[in-house]
Amino acid sequence: MLEAVERKIDQMVAALEDADARELYRRLPAGKRLRARLILTIAGDGPEAVKLAAIVEMIHAASLLHDDVIDAAELRRGRPSINALYGDKTAIMFGDVLYSTAFTQLVDLGRPIARSIATAVTRLSLGERRDVLLSRRFHTDREAYLEMIYLKTAALIEAAAESAALLAGKRPEPYRRYGRNLGIAFQMIDDVLDVTEDEATLGKPAMHDLSEGKTTLPFIDLYEALEEAGQKRLLALHGRPIGAEDREWIREAMERHGIVERCRAEAGALIAEALELMRREGETGLEQIARKMVERNS
Ligand code: FPP
Ligand code: MG
Repeated sequence: MLEAVERKIDQMVAALEDADARELYRRLPAGKRLRARLILTIAGDGPEAVKLAAIVEMIHAASLLHDDVIDAAELRRGRPSINALYGDKTAIMFGDVLYSTAFTQLVDLGRPIARSIATAVTRLSLGERRDVLLSRRFHTDREAYLEMIYLKTAALIEAAAESAALLAGKRPEPYRRYGRNLGIAFQMIDDVLDVTEDEATLGKPAMHDLSEGKTTLPFIDLYEALEEAGQKRLLALHGRPIGAEDREWIREAMERHGIVERCRAEAGALIAEALELMRREGETGLEQIARKMVERNS
């Protein structure tokens, strides 16, 4: 099913008749295609569903091109990022090309779907900005964290599920809520993997979030579980490169306080709620996507 989506993206890039864009696209690793899988599972693999999946994956790819510039990331999915290979300007401009190509195609899918996806992209952009603003200092504001990951990550997954339901003539609301929960849980798991996995598995530097200034859920929970001295030590590590000894201390403290289990349980509860919504709709195909998402290690 996914091959049809890859072919559709290739076609859209080829239609630009621009050798540079084709070459840059060739350098982009495809990723898990979670959003495309979700759309095809809900809406089947007819031409409109394939087109919607291709559009959403192109928007996602564009957002990561921009995000890697904003985060000054050298690696994406184990390969040098486009900004590392060709510089920030190229990454931004190529992101714009993918993003506007996707939006041109979106017009053909009708107003409700176009509105859903376009609204999500605004949320994505606001979420990225919130992430940057929240990274200025260490914080323990769970509400702010949850709102930010909803905007930054879940909004597009929510819109993907909602649009796929609209395309398939299904009730959009339960699918929207499924997508929202799945998206929030997805980002929580991402934030856990940053702490538990190594660079080889992640395809990007390990325990990078805290040194980038990002106070993710595991760090909020850890801070609240630590005694004063531990809290001071954690605060001192915020926003700077973390050495092997401090990394080990963080891992050991997280282990001691059961932080990873707690975060995984929080993500798991969102997934259970999402699956219950789908069970009520008689939708059987989405269980595997949700389970794979929480059980992944990269
Ligand atoms: C990754 O977060 C970033 C996102 C999911 C959203 C980025 C959104 C934008 C840059 C705005 C939208 C722009 C366009 C062109 C559509 P992360 O840095 O936590 O994850 P990472 O570790 O995978 O980089
Ligand atoms: Mg990033």
